Amino acid sequence: MPTTVQIPFSYSRHEAWQDLSAPDRELMEAALAAAGRAYAEYSEFEVGAALRMADGTVITGNNQENASYPAGICAERTALHAAMSQNRKGVVTTMAIVVPSITKGSPVSPCGICRQALLEQEGRQNKAPLRLLLAIPHGPVYEIATASQLLPISFDKSQLPA
Ligand code: THU
Repeated sequence: MPTTVQIPFSYSRHEAWQDLSAPDRELMEAALAAAGRAYAEYSEFEVGAALRMADGTVITGNNQENASYPAGICAERTALHAAMSQNRKGVVTTMAIVVPSITKGSPVSPCGICRQALLEQEGRQNKAPLRLLLAIPHGPVYEIATASQLLPISFDKSQLPA
């Protein structure tokens, strides 16, 4: 008989932005503003991301699309790569992701490729948690304590040949 292995996943659901701390609200506001600068020429689906580093620096990103569709990049990786290109040893403590066009329902959560990039970042920062705040303008906000939780049984550099 096979063994069933269960992998726990949990997140905190906040009904409104006001239920979060001032620094978290500030990060979500920065992500909201970043979404307004997205280049979402083809999908018209604007996404903003804003991350805070351990030293307090806030870096934003948004989706950047391309007529060659796969060349486009998501907001999360735009922000993450911008941050790490400026400070390669930087520790990302929190990333807020906001989609302003969603007025009700659930926030958007990172795509599979972005989950892999966020997992890599947690590895780069010695597994210091990279917390996610997934938000839409009038709530709810989903708070996920560590990005790697979004990618169970994941592939990382430990599996590459030495
Ligand atoms: N997108 C993001 O930027 N982040 C997400 O979490 C989901 C999807 C972008 C990619 C593409 O430009 C558009 O949204 C539609 O998929």
